[in-house]
Amino acid sequence: MKYYIKTYGCQMNQRDSESAGVMLEAHGYIETKIEEEADVLIFNTCSVREQAERKAIGKIGILKRLKKKRPDIFIGVMGCMAQNKGAELLKTLPHLDFVIGTDKLHELPEIINAEKKERYKDVRLETDYDVLTSMSGHHVNAKQSVSAYIAIMRGCNRFCSYCIVPFVRGREKSRKISDIVDEAKKLVEDGIKEVYLLGQNVAGFGLDGASPSMTRKESPFAELLYELNKIEGLYRIRWISPHPAYFNDALIDAIIDCDKVCKSVHLPLQSGSNEILKRMNRPYTAEDYLSIVKKLKSKCKEITFSTDIIVGFPGETDDDFLATCAIMDEVKFDNAYLFKYSPREKTKAAEYADQLSQEIKEERHSILLKKLGKSATSNNLSCVGNTYDVLVEGASKRNSKRWTGRADGNQVVVFEPKDKVEVGDIVQIKIKESSSMTLFGAMQ
Ligand code: 5AD
Ligand code: SF4
Repeated sequence: MKYYIKTYGCQMNQRDSESAGVMLEAHGYIETKIEEEADVLIFNTCSVREQAERKAIGKIGILKRLKKKRPDIFIGVMGCMAQNKGAELLKTLPHLDFVIGTDKLHELPEIINAEKKERYKDVRLETDYDVLTSMSGHHVNAKQSVSAYIAIMRGCNRFCSYCIVPFVRGREKSRKISDIVDEAKKLVEDGIKEVYLLGQNVAGFGLDGASPSMTRKESPFAELLYELNKIEGLYRIRWISPHPAYFNDALIDAIIDCDKVCKSVHLPLQSGSNEILKRMNRPYTAEDYLSIVKKLKSKCKEITFSTDIIVGFPGETDDDFLATCAIMDEVKFDNAYLFKYSPREKTKAAEYADQLSQEIKEERHSILLKKLGKSATSNNLSCVGNTYDVLVEGASKRNSKRWTGRADGNQVVVFEPKDKVEVGDIVQIKIKESSSMTLFGAMQ
């Protein structure tokens, strides 16, 4: 029997698809990349912006033809859109067989292995902590990939007023530090050199919902970093995404103290205006945000920053937008995911009266894109002449003589190998040239 999984959306979804695949393989299924030869087709979907949902529904709609031709195939939806739309999806897409919510990932093999007569239109959406037990399976091919994702927690309790995630991924549920460390050790034994820790609110890891103002207890996320840093053979630790309100001094110290923790921080800003941050239900100010950046920069000159920003949030005035521009000018991000606000059902901001036009969103988006291009180009230019440890990711797809890897600061580095190099090596590259996206250098 063959399975096919198509993933939409973020790294968390990619990670869930990987876990789902490993679970199915344990039940004798083999992966195929070709829809027509699959017995089971699963769509792991995203809800964060409306466009993502539309795309997935369109794609699944097309499969009606395949189901007509081969009525025995089994088609299902998992992930955020499955949780969001639930049984309604079976009405929109009558050829669907099952809808499995974000907390029911671990029940996927049971659904798929059910007798045909029991298979009819299965919808599972309940909250279930057992899902944490299904999150450690990996497809490791150390010859092809140096890096693996580890989901350290699920869900989000923050309820930012624009965001659907708390409604579709449920409450925060953190894994045990020992489980995460065991998973990382196993990955390293299998040849992985870099782990990428995933969670919607990683700086709140282990608090499972307590807000920083409600508790004096600090998240044990820093402790997790110290524990992972001890793993022999692991080279690098990266992580996304921390909420600035949870970003405390213990975490700053851990980033600086742990040599394997990359000096590259993804810190979602969302807006540089304190008024908009308030309306977004993000309990920090632009000054708080900058204070984290300054503390980190004062302790590590080379540290790089990336961020998420939303433009065109309801009621965003020209001055609010200029405040976001000012932070972009000050921090000089290496990278930023710039989003046009998309109203999502169930969220508070979707009901705000002062929604902005698409035109304003487009205009502000393009201004920020230009700013990002400028800061990324200038940051990369300042790397020219420096030598970096580069973790080798493989030969470039366009030109096999050129290889690529990443510096600690997450910059993509392209080079021509002098000696034999292998995926997963650390090599020293002296940077000769740069563009907005890439550093070009020579192997030392
Ligand atoms: N509209 C636009 N962007 C959004 N994000 C989350 N919800 C929305 C929305 N409704 C962005 C945020 C978040 C990232 C994952 O997606 O910037 O950090
Ligand atoms: Fe969404 Fe806010 Fe949670 Fe991030 S912290 S997932 S933006 S609600």
